[in-house]
Amino acid sequence: MANTAKFWFISKPQYEIRGGKKGLRGVYDCLASDYDNSRYLFYTRWIEREEETIINRWLDELSSPAIDVGCGTGRYAVKIARMGISTIAIDLSIEVLKKTRKKGGDGILPVLADAESLPLKADSCGGIICTLTFDHLFNPTSALGEFERVIRKNGICIMSTLNETLLKRFRRKLGIPCSYMPFRTEKCGPTLIYEKGHTEEKARKLFQEAGFRIKATELCPVLPGRLIGKLALFRKLIPLFVFKLGF
Ligand SMILES: C[S@@+](CC[C@H](N)C(=O)[O-])C[C@H]1O[C@@H](n2cnc3c(N)ncnc32)[C@H](O)[C@@H]1O
Repeated sequence: MANTAKFWFISKPQYEIRGGKKGLRGVYDCLASDYDNSRYLFYTRWIEREEETIINRWLDELSSPAIDVGCGTGRYAVKIARMGISTIAIDLSIEVLKKTRKKGGDGILPVLADAESLPLKADSCGGIICTLTFDHLFNPTSALGEFERVIRKNGICIMSTLNETLLKRFRRKLGIPCSYMPFRTEKCGPTLIYEKGHTEEKARKLFQEAGFRIKATELCPVLPGRLIGKLALFRKLIPLFVFKLGF
């Protein structure tokens, strides 16, 4: 069963397409209860582990209040709150926020809101973390404008984004429509939701146009030997890019 679950999408199941933000919200509401433990999310777990080896080194550069935008079930929000940093966890899905709150307790303030319109004052926070969420945003430029508005000028913004070059190949092989990615868990049937990655160049351009300075770019999975990561061909094959932004 473990292997069948790992490769479930290869059998090209019948997908339900859930479009728009409403679709995204509905799917994450449904995924919330088994998101952390589902056998179907094998690749998500793998990429999370690799991403954490990079991001864990940067978390202590966040200061209170830190905002986890698209917090999901609290993978980082819980960790940041345990470091003694007051944490606001923002998400579109009420069900994932409930999970985050349950895991993180009083150290976390859960807020149901959209990344593209943050209910926060200008220069009010010490940093933002937004992982595996940027690619779900219909208007990433507005979200980055919001991040730039609310982070104090000595704060940082930690972002991760899937490599659109690889996603395109994956979709083409499996006949998945452009800008969608497949999800499923034990409780939720095969579903396609909006998820459009970025090339490294495109992401850098968006960040810079929003007024950020790129302080670090890391290739994920962390490659053996940084030299390999410098080769253009390898950069095209990297599944996830991780950025530390500042001003
Ligand atoms: C793949 S999960 C990532 C969760 C978490 N950041 C992590 O890395 O484990 C994506 C999350 O982004 C949220 N999301 C998608 N679009 C959003 C938006 N416009 N505003 C806020 N949250 C959003 C989803 O509800 C979901 O919880």
